Amino acid sequence: MSAASKHERLQAWVAEMAEMCRPDAVYWCDGSRDEYDRLMAAMVASGSATPLKKRPNSFLFRSDPSDVARVEDRTYISTPERIEAGPTNNWVHPDELKATMRKLYDGCMQGRTMYVIPFSMGPIGSPISKVGIEITDSPYVVCNMHIMTRVGTKVLETLGTDGEFIPCMHSVGAPLTPGLQDVPWPCAPMEKKYISHFPDENLIWSFGSGYGGNALLGKKCLSLRIASAMARREGWMAEHMLILRLTSPEGRRYHIAAAFPSACGKTNLAMLQPTIPGWKCETIGDDIAWMKIGPDGRLYAINPEYGFFGVAPGTSYESNPMAMESLKENCIFTNCVLTDDGDIWWEGMDGDPPAHGIDWKGRDWTPGSAEVGAHANARFTAPARQCPCICPDWEKPEGVPVDIFVFGGRRAGVVPLVTEAFDWDHGVFLGATASSETTAANIGDIGALRRDPFAMKPFCGYNMGDYFQHWLAMGDRLGAKAPRIFYVNWFRKDARGRFMWPGFGENSRVLKWMCERIDGRAPAVSTPIGLLPEAKDLDLSGLDISPDDMRELLRVDVDAYRSEADSVEKHFAQFGRRLPARMRRQLDALRDRLSRS
Ligand code: OXD
Ligand code: MN
Repeated sequence: MSAASKHERLQAWVAEMAEMCRPDAVYWCDGSRDEYDRLMAAMVASGSATPLKKRPNSFLFRSDPSDVARVEDRTYISTPERIEAGPTNNWVHPDELKATMRKLYDGCMQGRTMYVIPFSMGPIGSPISKVGIEITDSPYVVCNMHIMTRVGTKVLETLGTDGEFIPCMHSVGAPLTPGLQDVPWPCAPMEKKYISHFPDENLIWSFGSGYGGNALLGKKCLSLRIASAMARREGWMAEHMLILRLTSPEGRRYHIAAAFPSACGKTNLAMLQPTIPGWKCETIGDDIAWMKIGPDGRLYAINPEYGFFGVAPGTSYESNPMAMESLKENCIFTNCVLTDDGDIWWEGMDGDPPAHGIDWKGRDWTPGSAEVGAHANARFTAPARQCPCICPDWEKPEGVPVDIFVFGGRRAGVVPLVTEAFDWDHGVFLGATASSETTAANIGDIGALRRDPFAMKPFCGYNMGDYFQHWLAMGDRLGAKAPRIFYVNWFRKDARGRFMWPGFGENSRVLKWMCERIDGRAPAVSTPIGLLPEAKDLDLSGLDISPDDMRELLRVDVDAYRSEADSVEKHFAQFGRRLPARMRRQLDALRDRLSRS
């Protein structure tokens, strides 16, 4: 008898879903290595996975060309009242959405196996962790979940007969009715894809996509959208943040949690190799932070994930050696180039491109080909434990105390290299007005400017105005023990389009200034937009950067910020009465400071 059979609610839910989807078989995952190997072997045999000769126990998948990224247009926060989802989310009433999706789910797993995946987000037994159960008809999803979460029978044991779990329902939406031949990457057409969240019920229903955050439901769906709504109700925080530990030459430890929109270098920053002598960086997480106030009144963070689902193109020994070292074995690669010697490659990898390969669409590819070889949102799935700089405390159940929050985005102009908030409310204002040029991680225009508050625009499971209020309330509770807040922009370009700041490991220079600030050891200049260093306050030793570039990187362009304030006004207007008065006051205060300078 399986452990799950002792949990009546879980059994009843699985039975109900099976009755609706009509799979050929139901299989309860145990999370074992043997299970992973069997599923991979079957996917190799069916032609959807290619084993890589050069990387032990690693496999390449190619998605359907229509199923390559998160689909924000097809993602819903479904609350009984539209206002509770707020202006930044798509909304349909739960009754209507469920009725639509029930029709799609009806018989959708014919000819397939329904897998039941018990998983824990966060170390099993941590007071901050949560249990999810994903149902899926995709063995690719099962194998990715093995890497990205803690899967297995132990999770069911902790659930016991009545433990709380978050039901996560997923189907690729491609029934194998008699006579139909399976394809390497089954999925449904765009208009049938739905990534739906019912925060009032802690419930996720996903249909039609097999890719990344649409399908690995522990990640964006559970750990951000559903968790953010739970966190608000329960008084904690679920954020789109990396977590790192920086240790000074004297051995003082600083924990930094940083929020950036997708594909702005969170994984690179999380695995930073400081270029300043004596400083050490260790990774705790690269995408999501769950934080609770601990018994000493400080804020403690865990990484709920177990692996990295990173953007491959641009990852190299130069940009992120620690990620490259994490990818040597036991990994899944999706939409990368397959080289003739049985390895993977992507644009931006070190060295020369291969003379010939197979591109992400399965066609011959050579360096002169008209299209890129790897899709811009090609991904690697890697176990976090394989990262050489993973922090020894990354699985500590109580988490690590956060000293510093960093927000940022990708802005070619206007926004300086670093700014410190005057206080918590100003920091929340910086987070609430964060902006970035869009990238390939989400389907839509690339390069357009969008406000992405706290890098949570695609991931906040409730009204964003209330989310700002939740941040203010957390600050009130934390008081003097609240982390200090900074805003960075690594992506400034000059008139010729050249990046002015070298980035990557050199970002440690900026983080060092933050650490010195919280220790009261570094000066800052008060400007209308916040506290900024002068070039002399940053440790630039050994860095080849011109004084002109540094001046520009730290310049506050008052005129440009007047226009920014107008754009913030428009951004805030969408929240109507849900915008906290304290945010409105921050905008007024900014305008006031700008008018006086
Ligand atoms: C991600 C994303 O995959 O933010 O982490 O898109
Ligand atoms: Mn992310």
